[in-house]
Amino acid sequence: MAYLSTVDFFADKNFLDRWQRNLKGDLDLSWMKAKTEKITVTAENTRRGLTFRDLDKGGYGFTDMPELIRQNRSFAPRGAELPDGLPDLQPAVNQKGEVWAYNTEGYYEEAMTRQWNATVDVPWHELAKYELPDEISRAYAQLLTFLTEVEMIATDVPAEWMGKLNNSFVEVKNFMATQVVDEARHTEVFRKRALTTGYGLMKASPQNEVGLKLIRDADSFAEMSLALHLAGEGFVLTLFRFSEYISPTEVDKKMFRLVMQDEARHVGYGVQHLKWVMRHFPEKREMIHKHLDEVENLLFGGGYAVEVTEPFIILAGKGLKKENIAQGAKITMLFQLKQVEEYFERLDKCGLEERRQMSKLHNALELTRASLQEAGVLA
Ligand SMILES: [Fe+2]
Ligand SMILES: [Fe+2]
Repeated sequence: MAYLSTVDFFADKNFLDRWQRNLKGDLDLSWMKAKTEKITVTAENTRRGLTFRDLDKGGYGFTDMPELIRQNRSFAPRGAELPDGLPDLQPAVNQKGEVWAYNTEGYYEEAMTRQWNATVDVPWHELAKYELPDEISRAYAQLLTFLTEVEMIATDVPAEWMGKLNNSFVEVKNFMATQVVDEARHTEVFRKRALTTGYGLMKASPQNEVGLKLIRDADSFAEMSLALHLAGEGFVLTLFRFSEYISPTEVDKKMFRLVMQDEARHVGYGVQHLKWVMRHFPEKREMIHKHLDEVENLLFGGGYAVEVTEPFIILAGKGLKKENIAQGAKITMLFQLKQVEEYFERLDKCGLEERRQMSKLHNALELTRASLQEAGVLA
């Protein structure tokens, strides 16, 4: 049954002979003459330490990496000698422009220095000081349920794509590995907080999950990154900022501040990636707009689902009475307005200013703005 390998090392005469000679002290030593670049590498900033940017030299570097990686489709690290016989891993993504972002290596370094621990960095014991009204606890448990759903997909998706990337994109792969850990920690922290409300988890959201599945099913890295890093996580970043603001306790404010620093980094990568694509491949503009049509549909479906909007209104208004709801609805509209405005601002930064006029999400923004004007909140 040849299912794992096509090479039988136990029966390979050359390999067995070489092994036997090694054991008798007859060494091959051909690897000592590897035809690779010999370079000098030092930390440019000794306080910061030795960074990926310090390694950006010659064939080891990322600046001079060819746009299309044809010569290496194996596990060989960028810069190593590539002898015959390396396996072809058939990576799905071999084009630098499909995955690269300005400052990719910097995002990785930042992620490594800013890791935190959901078990001990949130002052869980202080929750005992607070007694929250029933409807606030229920609404909060529902918001946390939604957030846990979202964080799960944000963990799965980069994990799935990492192995599809050519190994030459080591900085991107490492960054994605940090994202997987960040998102796993977000799933953990929101699950822990939901279970400490005393109400446990509440209701899963079909509308939200159908939207999330569209991110999972993206059939190119570019499509996935637009949906996840730029749009989805951008929406979530604004959501975290407002969630900090409407949080029922100081413990929650601390929790949201911690998740926000990770989320800002993921969105940063998404923006810098799209900026890179627009700068290097302006011909992709039309395709990007088509992707954004789909992405905005899922944002609208998930982000505006009843399971997230209603708890948000109750938390923002601090109760279920009529006046609470009215106040909560105003704050929620301001939040949704901000969410969409920030989304368009990110696209502006990438050189997609025309998106506003093409987008159905822009109609939602105008409707929200009109409602706020009617309510006297906006002039
Ligand atoms: Fe997250
Ligand atoms: Fe994220």
